[in-house]
Amino acid sequence: MGYDEVYGAWQADPEAFWMEAAKAIDWVEMPSRALDDSKAPLYEWFTDGKVNACYNALDRHVENGRAEQMAVIYDSPITGAKAKFTYAEMRDKVALFAGALAAKGVTKGDRVIIYMPMVPEALVAMLACARIGAVHSVVFGGFAANELAVRIDDATPKAIIAASCGLEPGRVVDYKPLLDGAIDLAKHKPEFCVILQRQEKPAALIEGRDVDWNAAQVGVAPADCVAVEGSHPAYILYTSGTTGAPKGVVRPTGGHLVALNWTMKNVYNVDPGDVFWAASDVGWVVGHSYICYGPLIHGNTTIVFEGKPVGTPDAGTFWRVISEHNVRSFFTAPTAFRAIKRDDPKGELIKDYDISCLNVLYLAGERADPDTIHWAQRTLGVPVIDHWWQTEIGYPAVCNPVGIELLPVKVGSPSVALPGFDIRVVDEGGKEMKRGELGAIVIKLPLPPGTLPTLWNAEARFRKSYLTTFPGYYETGDAGMIDEDGYLYIMARTDDVINVAGHRLSTGAMEEVLASHEDVAECAVIGVSDELKGQLPLGFLCLNKGCNRPHDEIVKEVVKLVRDKIGPVAAFKLAVVVDRLPKTRSGKILRATMVKIADNQEYKMPATIDDPAILDEIRLALQPLGYAKG
Ligand code: COA
Ligand code: AMP
Repeated sequence: MGYDEVYGAWQADPEAFWMEAAKAIDWVEMPSRALDDSKAPLYEWFTDGKVNACYNALDRHVENGRAEQMAVIYDSPITGAKAKFTYAEMRDKVALFAGALAAKGVTKGDRVIIYMPMVPEALVAMLACARIGAVHSVVFGGFAANELAVRIDDATPKAIIAASCGLEPGRVVDYKPLLDGAIDLAKHKPEFCVILQRQEKPAALIEGRDVDWNAAQVGVAPADCVAVEGSHPAYILYTSGTTGAPKGVVRPTGGHLVALNWTMKNVYNVDPGDVFWAASDVGWVVGHSYICYGPLIHGNTTIVFEGKPVGTPDAGTFWRVISEHNVRSFFTAPTAFRAIKRDDPKGELIKDYDISCLNVLYLAGERADPDTIHWAQRTLGVPVIDHWWQTEIGYPAVCNPVGIELLPVKVGSPSVALPGFDIRVVDEGGKEMKRGELGAIVIKLPLPPGTLPTLWNAEARFRKSYLTTFPGYYETGDAGMIDEDGYLYIMARTDDVINVAGHRLSTGAMEEVLASHEDVAECAVIGVSDELKGQLPLGFLCLNKGCNRPHDEIVKEVVKLVRDKIGPVAAFKLAVVVDRLPKTRSGKILRATMVKIADNQEYKMPATIDDPAILDEIRLALQPLGYAKG
């Protein structure tokens, strides 16, 4: 069947389509139906099924002839460490660690926060939670203590699993002080923490609260898989929204298993046994879906890579990993390729490796610019497939369905809607735009299995953020258009979320931090274009009356404040002091116009602007930073 037939089959009978896909999962009790619309417009999937995610990711492969196949390959160019684990080894490790958690009282439905770098134990921890029905919430290592504290208070975990440290090129990131600081800051206190001591920098444990990773497993019995309802949350993953408070995206177990398994062949075109590599981090949705769950559910070998595209040790590191581990499909963010292209523009380093095993490169997480796509096509000699999705969705919604049929690639478009997704472009009033016209990208409800059913502890916010603006549709927060051939083009966000090096960040959260500085009366943060990272945050500061302190001192302080409060991942390094901010007559800051000025794009003078002269002041303030030069 070609793409049109597969998409058509889903359109004609979504229930039958997903029930068929569900057969590829091993259920303890097969669900009697796919969609549960009893609480529409909140939808759930496979609610009356019983299933275990860890069983599907590990045990079933051990029982079905893959016991000795590699499940996980760990490759750390930062430490030089490499290790391989078969499905049988992973199953045993996970069962024992799950036993340790269970022995300390963690049971079905308890939340467990995981704050770990890219080590195989991060997957062990995630799968161990899944094994006993606990709900994990992985927090990215580049976030500061305060962000971790916010997540602790929202998820109220019984336990936190952390490593003593993470490793960035040239820098050890001490996780333990960040963890201790976060627990001090949080109102909620976990009952215990499990700490993986890394030899690069072990940490002092707090007696009575912290237990060593290995010690926790001594004398415990391995845990069995606990069957959970199809709608049971597999995990919570926090992502940036418009305000400073992150959104806790809930991932339901049954739908997530069915959908991820379906994408492994239909999207990523790998068969069980093939090596699949997503060079991301377990702290992001890509890491959840395509480092941990997707490849393992499907019987692939996954790679846990602790390194960067450049500098560990050089821009050839991706090619080395692909060649050495026989990677068939590879997934990363465009920014990684921009970094490689910058260090090795002619792609000389690739000549040192045989990467003929590689069939396709997949890019997502941010806009894939044509230069980068062309460079990757030329350098790798394989199709380069841009695809679009979001943390909320959990897996690709728009993609060239390579495993079904390789459609013509249109550079600049992530291609077409996958089964499950009825994507429309609408105007502000919800009226559908003509083909080729720009508007808000929405998806007709219900969203397919595995997508978020709600936000953790925040159903009202879920409805307001996603379901209210366009009734009957899910609001993606992206703007774009669909062309005559049904190809989608993503142009911009419609909210204050920016995308820095493939990382989704909230300018609202940064504004909250800037506003907390004692000399700052008012502020705004925008995302300006950056050749390497796609976008960078840039802050405008209006100081309190009478503040005579040197501006560069205040800028340094706010840069440090964002790093301390949000974390290095915010990459907040640019700020300027201005007298006033451009606003509408009703007081709304004109951030979009400021972005256009910074990026030298044409803009219409907003009809409601209070004082147009302020725009010139903004331009002049930006020029010393290298922006607004045009
Ligand atoms: N723990 C602690 N700190 C981290 C971190 C982690 N897990 N990840 C990143 N950081 C820090 C970095 O060390 C850096 O700190 P610095 O300001 O002291 O230099 C800061 O956060 C910003 O990191 P990043 O934006 O990643 O920039 P970089 O200059 O270190 O690297 C790239 C640039 C392009 C090489 C890198 O961004 C990259 O590999 N991007 C791919 C992203 C990706 O795969 N995203 C997943 C989405 S699919
Ligand atoms: P995240 O939830 O971190 O995966 O970020 C999702 C957001 O990243 C989307 O809403 C888009 O704004 C952006 N994004 C993801 N993939 C793409 C893509 N292929 N092209 C353009 N933007 C993308």
